[in-house]
Amino acid sequence: MRLLILGGGHFLGRTIAAQALARGHQVTVFNRGKSSTDLPGVTVVRGDRSVPADLVNLAARGDWDAVVDTSGMTTDLVELSTGALAGIVDHYVFISTVNVYQGWPVEPLTDDSPVRSYAPYGPPGESSADEYGRLKAGCEQAVTTAFAGRSALLRPGVILGPHENVGRLPWWLTRIREGGRVLAPGRPDWPIQPVDVRDVAAFALDVAEQRLPGSYNVTAPIGHSTFEELLDACRTAVDSVADLVWVDDAFLRRHRVPEWVGLPLWRDYSGTWHVDAARARAAGLTCRPLPDTVTDTWQWMRDTTLAETERSAELGITRRREQEILAAWDAARI
Ligand SMILES: NC(=O)c1ccc[n+]([C@@H]2O[C@H](COP(=O)([O-])OP(=O)(O)OC[C@H]3O[C@@H](n4cnc5c(N)ncnc54)[C@H](OP(=O)(O)O)[C@@H]3O)[C@@H](O)[C@H]2O)c1
Repeated sequence: MRLLILGGGHFLGRTIAAQALARGHQVTVFNRGKSSTDLPGVTVVRGDRSVPADLVNLAARGDWDAVVDTSGMTTDLVELSTGALAGIVDHYVFISTVNVYQGWPVEPLTDDSPVRSYAPYGPPGESSADEYGRLKAGCEQAVTTAFAGRSALLRPGVILGPHENVGRLPWWLTRIREGGRVLAPGRPDWPIQPVDVRDVAAFALDVAEQRLPGSYNVTAPIGHSTFEELLDACRTAVDSVADLVWVDDAFLRRHRVPEWVGLPLWRDYSGTWHVDAARARAAGLTCRPLPDTVTDTWQWMRDTTLAETERSAELGITRRREQEILAAWDAARI
């Protein structure tokens, strides 16, 4: 297959490129060469997807059997790329997100849950997560309009694994590696379902190879793992004897720990980790055990120098804050 990846330098795009090469595909990546490095073996076309002339230059290098768009974040930019590629690419696979659902992150979701409607501007005070979902919903519309019947929308939940540039699992691994009393959030048996980046990449390639149409949630099965299994896997991976102190949800809220980012992945709505990905599973999505994701992420972290990103900079609480909360928790239990 001749495959084009819009992006291809970071976490998911890079993994898709690596697996596509391993499957014997001819891979072209299109990016600015600004924030990422390209894998050996790919054909590189430099350009900015916001610049129409760069897309004309890209289109002149076609055609392709499929494009996987990992870097489309705004509607106008996706409209530019779908417009430039509609005549020279057979199938468009767009990497979207569960944030497009109206019910995210509070309500349980299925493949058929209602999606947010797109508007160029959000309501006053819109959260960044809602803005992200609204804009991705607009991207989806742009794709299905230009590539009607020959496009797929993949909607992953939280993705973890080697090369993670958001920093969620690296934060936990780093914290547990430091040892001592670690604030473990909520209930140990709280079910979670992060999906490994390599499993998302394999599924994206399956969809591209088979030209599958439609939309697919891409998560591990509901109840795939628990928060305790995640943190225990971190302890095992980094060989730590850190003491996990489980602090309940209401206490964390009272102490104003920001959900999702304060202690990465902590959120106690019943819907957040209740995303049904039946359609993807029926189409071949398989998910490896979470401890494999954790171990391989730690292996990658040991071999690399982690650069702080805009996303990772907002994650976590300080050690001092953590110990203050633990002291208050101890005091409340005397
Ligand atoms: N992480 C999660 O938990 C999660 C969950 C759900 C969905 N997702 C989705 O998964 C995708 C993650 O993508 P990724 O970051 O791993 O992969 P990626 O596509 O490899 O990373 C972004 C790439 O786009 C390039 N790029 C950025 N702006 C560009 C522009 N204006 N023109 C051309 N190229 C540009 C960047 O390189 P240059 O800067 O060098 O141009 C980089 O190579 C996103 O669509 C995200 O919404 C992620």
